[in-house]
This record gives sequence, C-alpha cells and structure tokens, in this order.
Amino acid sequence: MKEKILVTGGAGYIGSHTAVELIERGYEVVIIDDLSNSEETVLDGIESITGTRPDLAVFDICDEAKLELFFQAHPDIAAIIHFAAAKAVGESVSRPLHYYRNNILSLVNLLEVLPTTQAKGIVFSSSCTVYGQPDTLPVTEEEPVKKALSPYGNTKQICEEILQDAIASGADYRTIALRYFNPIGAHPSAKIGELPRGVPNNLVPFITQTGAGLREKIQIFGDDYNTPDGTCVRDYIHVVDLAKAHVIATERILKKTAPEQYEFFNLGTGKGSSVKEIVDTFEKVSGKELPKTISPRRAGDVEAVYADTRRANEVLGWKSELGLEEMISSAWAWEKSIRGIES
Ligand code: NAD
Ligand code: WQD
Repeated sequence: MKEKILVTGGAGYIGSHTAVELIERGYEVVIIDDLSNSEETVLDGIESITGTRPDLAVFDICDEAKLELFFQAHPDIAAIIHFAAAKAVGESVSRPLHYYRNNILSLVNLLEVLPTTQAKGIVFSSSCTVYGQPDTLPVTEEEPVKKALSPYGNTKQICEEILQDAIASGADYRTIALRYFNPIGAHPSAKIGELPRGVPNNLVPFITQTGAGLREKIQIFGDDYNTPDGTCVRDYIHVVDLAKAHVIATERILKKTAPEQYEFFNLGTGKGSSVKEIVDTFEKVSGKELPKTISPRRAGDVEAVYADTRRANEVLGWKSELGLEEMISSAWAWEKSIRGIES
C-alpha cells in the first residue's frame, strides 16, 4: 500500500511540483486547495507528467468543519505538507486581516485536527522573508528573526512560533519549517509552472511575460545598492530542487529520524545573483533582448540575501542541483507553452 500524503495548496506553484516528485517516489497524493490562486487544470499537468491524477478536495482549510470531514474520509494520511497560504507581499499590506486569517487559521486548524489522525507530522512552507536584511551573509538559521516588513512576512514568523509552541506543549507529532529563498523555474516537461494572476510582482514571471510580449518592458528596481553591480541580490532556487527537499523532509517525518520535533532549514542554492544577472541570463537562454529601464528602488526590498545551506545539506542530505540557466530556461519554456509561442 502506498503511503498517503496530504498536500495543501497542491494546485499551486510549489505544491504542484512537489506533488509530482511525491508521486514519482511512490507516494499517493491527496490535495486540498480552494483554487483561490490556482486552476484545476494544473492537475492535468501533474497527470500528464506522472500518469497519475491526485485526488483534489476543493475547500478553504480555514473551514474547520470541512477539514474534519475531509480527514474522516481520509483517515490514513501519513503526513501533511502545508503550502496553502496567500503569498503576495504588497497585497498583504492592503489586506492584512485576510492574510492573518488565511495563513494563520489554516495552520491552526491543521494542527488541531492532526492529533486525531494517523498523520505523523507536518512540513510547513516558511520563507527567507523571516530574516529581513540579515546582518551576516550568507544567512544561517542561527540569524535572529527580524521584525517583519509586511503582514505576509509576519504570518510566516507567527506560524513558525505556533509550530514551536505546539511542540513545547507536548504535541506528539513532528514539524519541519522550510525557509525558501526565491523559488523560480518550472518542471522540465513545461507541463506545470508558475501561473501568476494579473501583473506579476516577482522578477522572473515579469521577465518571461515581457519576453512573451505581454509586458512592455522590465523595470530594474534600483541600481544604486551596495552590491557588485548595484542591483539587489537574491538566492534563486529551482522549484524542482525545492520540491525534492519536501520529499526528503516528509520522509524524515515518516521515519521519525529527527532528534527534535521542531526543525527548520534554509532552502536555497547558497549563491547570490543580482537582478541584472537574471535579466542577462534570460537574454542569453532565450536569444531575446528585453526592453528595460532602471527605475527607483521598490519599497520594502532588502539589498541582498542568500542562504547558508549547510544545515539542509548535512542534516537533510539535500543539495540544490540545478543552476541559473536551467531555472530561467525552464521558466521561459513554460511561458512559451502557455502562450502558444513556438520555440
Ligand atoms: P501558490 O499561490 O501558487 O500556491 C498556494 C495554493 O494554496 C494556491 O493554489 C491557493 O489556491 C491555495 N490556497 C491558499 N489559501 C488556501 C486556503 N485557505 N485553503 C485552501 N487552499 C488555499 O503559492 P506558492 O508559490 O506555491 O507558495 C506555496 C507556499 O510557499 C506558500 O505558503 C508561500 O507563502 C510559500 N512561499 C512561497 C515563495 C514563493 O516565492 N513562491 C517563497 C517563500 C515561501
Ligand atoms: C527579486 C528582485 C526586486 C520585479 C519575494 C517575497 C519573499 C518571497 C519571495 C514568499 C528584487 C527585483 C522585481 C521587477 C525588479 N516570497 N525586481 N523588477 O522581493 O526577493 O521576494 O518573493 O515568501 O517574501 O518578498 O522577489 O521576485 O519580487 O524580486 O527589479 O519587475 O527583483 O526589486 O530585488 P523578492 P521578487
């Protein structure tokens, strides 16, 4: 019998790639997603890659009664990966209560129901946003968490604290928070990828949409930072590498190998890349020159952040494998496939 893994937010960007990796490792995947930021057609992509269509239950995890009914129908879930959250930093400033309700209540509901199920624990999607602008680079997990710059960032900090407090209260399950740096790219099949709604806020979808002719030009937000070329530096990580880390973290929970019931890990490549390097890499892999301008700094941006990945490398035995060109060329292949652009 295949072990059954619940992937909340599994129709979304990172969740769909993780569903593929789990299925390919022999797990049964069930998804809860309210489709607030995704489309059901994502399941066609997962099915086309793996030959298996995961079960999808469409509801909001903040609805406790529906969540209880779901677990009654799936008493054999062995572990949970919790991706479901609202994630737009700017929107979280204008709709803070929606972010606090959605991101915090969904986790609380899952943790309340967990002890009544067979699940051994939960993997939680956290973010490098918890570090703000770190004092030391590359940033280790020992870096103190800074006051969040947005309600979204605050929800990730609060959720990490909720996990710690639940464990401190004697909970019997295991928890792993994974702090992602900047996930980009798409599955090499170009059958699943990121599907931003409206105008993308993030750099790479904006670049690929500009390449596809949907946007007039890419604005580089500030070239006067204290970085080698003046533009901001981030640790971009291929979404498939990220997905593989979730399989490893889930297996750590299933096998109960961790010495601690609450653990947290940076997931990045350990390498910082500037905005200009990302634009240059896109131009190189696509053979297209992008219309671009230098614009003022974007409010709330940190200058540079990239991960010290040793804890994930040594403790999880996970290391990112795919480089910047693979990240950007897969993102471009995905953009072309959804826009019907011939290669
Ligand atoms: P996404 O929006 O593509 O996926 C999230 C999915 O959760 C969506 O399909 C959405 O419909 C669903 N969802 C949201 N709230 C829900 C609810 N209450 N009930 C049921 N379903 C709900 O986002 P993503 O990029 O795949 O991010 C996944 C997780 O990783 C999120 O928790 C996000 O905060 C975190 N994260 C993302 C990034 C990033 O840059 N993409 C970086 C760090 C952390
Ligand atoms: C990257 C760089 C921009 C768009 C965000 C969240 C963070 C995490 C990951 C969830 C920055 C520059 C961007 C553009 C640009 N998400 N840029 N022109 O801000 O590092 O992180 O996503 O947890 O919490 O804040 O990612 O892709 O928005 O920006 O110059 O049109 O690209 O200024 O330096 P960011 P991003």
